[in-house]
Amino acid sequence: STRRAAHGATVHPLQSAHRGVRAKGGEMGASKNPHDDISEVLIDEAKIAARVKALGAEITAAYPGNDELVLVSVLKGSLVFVGDLMRAIDRNVRIDVMEVSSYGGGNTESSGTVRILKDLSGSIDGLDVLIVEDIIDTGLTLNYLTSYLAGKNPRSVRIVTLLDKPARRIAELPVDWTGFEIPDKFVVGYGLDFGEHYRNLRYVGVLKRELYASLIGEA
Ligand code: IMP
Repeated sequence: STRRAAHGATVHPLQSAHRGVRAKGGEMGASKNPHDDISEVLIDEAKIAARVKALGAEITAAYPGNDELVLVSVLKGSLVFVGDLMRAIDRNVRIDVMEVSSYGGGNTESSGTVRILKDLSGSIDGLDVLIVEDIIDTGLTLNYLTSYLAGKNPRSVRIVTLLDKPARRIAELPVDWTGFEIPDKFVVGYGLDFGEHYRNLRYVGVLKRELYASLIGEA
């Protein structure tokens, strides 16, 4: 069920549907109770909380001194994660946000071309930057973002991601901190969405396949 894009990169059909032709809630048949749309809770609330706390401690230790650390949250998926992570980091931080989209209008294939929908508000010149991402899949988004930010003359650029699907990586990335490695399943919750739904779930769960089967050409 994986298509091959023109440039040879494998593209998860659901991800195409997800980032390209975004389904609206009513059209994709989401249930009134979002929990009914989850086939399996992959990472529960307590497990996430413990891991985020540990990541915060590691990040605090990795940036000694009082120089400003800029957390760059990649919208919208990392909203929930950055909210918890920033409170687990016991040092001076500043938050900035960027919003990017991987696929151009109408194009449902991953091209590696990233459009910046919302750029940084402040300068990162000479500062330590920590990119906060919800999930790394092919790696194309962060691959672009890392070099984009590196071009703005920061002192350092590092990456923390809550989730990683290493099986689907196309672009090699130096990921400094990973919350959880997960199998190649489409997940929602704790900030992650499908058609803008499910971001408010307190756990990370696998979306029932029947909810997106028609989008990827399954009966
Ligand atoms: P990448 O450029 O392929 O690494 O894409 C990463 C982006 O794809 C994430 O920031 C998410 O927005 C989206 N994504 C990839 N896998 C999932 C998933 O399982 N659930 C929700 N969003 C996903």
